[in-house]
Amino acid sequence: MTSTKLNAFCSRGSTNAQTLILPVFTNKKGKITLGERAKDFDTKYDGLIAHSVAALPAFDAQAGQATVLAAPKGSRHQNIMLLGFGQADKLDKATSEKIGQTLFTSLKSQKLDNGLLLADDHKKFKSDGSTIYAQIANAAYEASYAFDKYKSAPTDNYKFLNVSYEDVHSLKAEFDNIMAISKGRVWARDLGNEPPNVLYPETYANQIQEKLGPLGVKTRVISYEEMQKLGMGAALAVGGSATHKPCMVVMEYDGTNNELAAPVGLVGKGVTYDTGGYSLKSGAGQIGMKFDMCGSAAVVGTMQALAEKKAAVKVAAIVGLVENRIAPDAYLVDDVITSMAGKTIEIKNTDAEGRLVLADALTYLQRNHRPHSIVDVATLTGAVVAALGHNRAGLFSESQTLRENFTQAAQHSGEAIELMPLDDEHRRAMIGKVADLSNSANTPRMGASTAAGFLSYFIEGDTQWAHLDIAGTAIPPNGVATGYGVKLLSEWVERNYADKTTPQQTPAPKQ
Ligand code: BES
Ligand code: MN
Ligand code: ZN
Repeated sequence: MTSTKLNAFCSRGSTNAQTLILPVFTNKKGKITLGERAKDFDTKYDGLIAHSVAALPAFDAQAGQATVLAAPKGSRHQNIMLLGFGQADKLDKATSEKIGQTLFTSLKSQKLDNGLLLADDHKKFKSDGSTIYAQIANAAYEASYAFDKYKSAPTDNYKFLNVSYEDVHSLKAEFDNIMAISKGRVWARDLGNEPPNVLYPETYANQIQEKLGPLGVKTRVISYEEMQKLGMGAALAVGGSATHKPCMVVMEYDGTNNELAAPVGLVGKGVTYDTGGYSLKSGAGQIGMKFDMCGSAAVVGTMQALAEKKAAVKVAAIVGLVENRIAPDAYLVDDVITSMAGKTIEIKNTDAEGRLVLADALTYLQRNHRPHSIVDVATLTGAVVAALGHNRAGLFSESQTLRENFTQAAQHSGEAIELMPLDDEHRRAMIGKVADLSNSANTPRMGASTAAGFLSYFIEGDTQWAHLDIAGTAIPPNGVATGYGVKLLSEWVERNYADKTTPQQTPAPKQ
């Protein structure tokens, strides 16, 4: 299989690109109109564009439409792509994403390697023209994602897209901001797609340090031995018996110049493989369980995005990296274990492992970094997939503030959530018979909420907390990781905590 990847740039003026990409608009009556720069081109080449548009009945210049013509003799380009934009004053984020995707698929299907998008008529847009063009270029870039490094004939066949824009500085600023998120998202996808014999706790921790260190994120690995010293009995029960020993990685990013007392907290489930343990998953149920670390991938991808953007926020994060395997001394159903927080847990299902890893990760982050608010992200339950499918993640929180803030962040980022119930009914279902807690609910239903109920026992003091179950959204039916969560989390963090006067945030004590 061959794949095509796209590099996108912005520049001022034109280049000798193989394909000149011209936006084509429609007016209110649906009639096709050209922008100023396309009109200049049209005049120069004897009405070629207007003539072609008239001769192509199927091309109506709506978003999602594109057609390619041969460039006229004497032009510096070989081809011209007419790219439908629809009505200029109706362009928004969703439309620009559609246009960007069409741009990429059209370049790819015509085997064109090098395009120049002429950013035309941006002053007629309702929203900022630089934002729209940056979104289009970014969507084209994202559409080119492929994970084919393990194919014997990989073809890193890069295509190039250059965007020419009058005010190249404002475009570049927008573009770099959007690309920072994309980079985090692409990394999260790559991590998710790696097979479990390549990506396991130790190799994963190394990758995190290599990627985030140079970006100014402080990272620290809590080794297997240190986990033992810390008494992380819950996470160790899951991963301690595997040959690939577990570890956790703590990350700190401060883009505020030490101005704030407390960070925002992110916690990720990083089960690099989930066989189910002795409560073994069926053969079919195991397929795709390499993706059981996608919560942690969303967390590290978000750290990358925020650091790349130099966002003015203070964040502390932790990911718990473990394999859930069968081994001679693997944990057993009916075992009673002790978590780092001191709560005892009876194991009723070794396949309910994610919550055990998260419990110790939550305790460590709260006790050592004192975040005012925390969100944990995990591919936690099949139940959330049954309830919500693959397009919405489940958000569980008893904090009205977090429910509202996540609802807004979801709308703006385009990564959807659904608010899910969490209260004492779900907490009660997790009380153990012989231990404080059970890792599997004593009720047959509400599996996504009872999992959240279990986690709630590990929230301390007045920490605000939300749990995000991404089992459906991170792992789509097509089997390629989506990177879900990077857009949502970075939007949530920046939108709510870049302003240092939000209620939860207090200034750092003077040194
Ligand atoms: N990693 C799974 C959840 C999952 C299932 C993610 C399907 C993606 C697709 C999790 O560790 C798990 O096995 N959960 C159990 C919990 C149960 C045993 C209480 C589940 O949902 O069945
Ligand atoms: Mn499991
Ligand atoms: Zn799992």
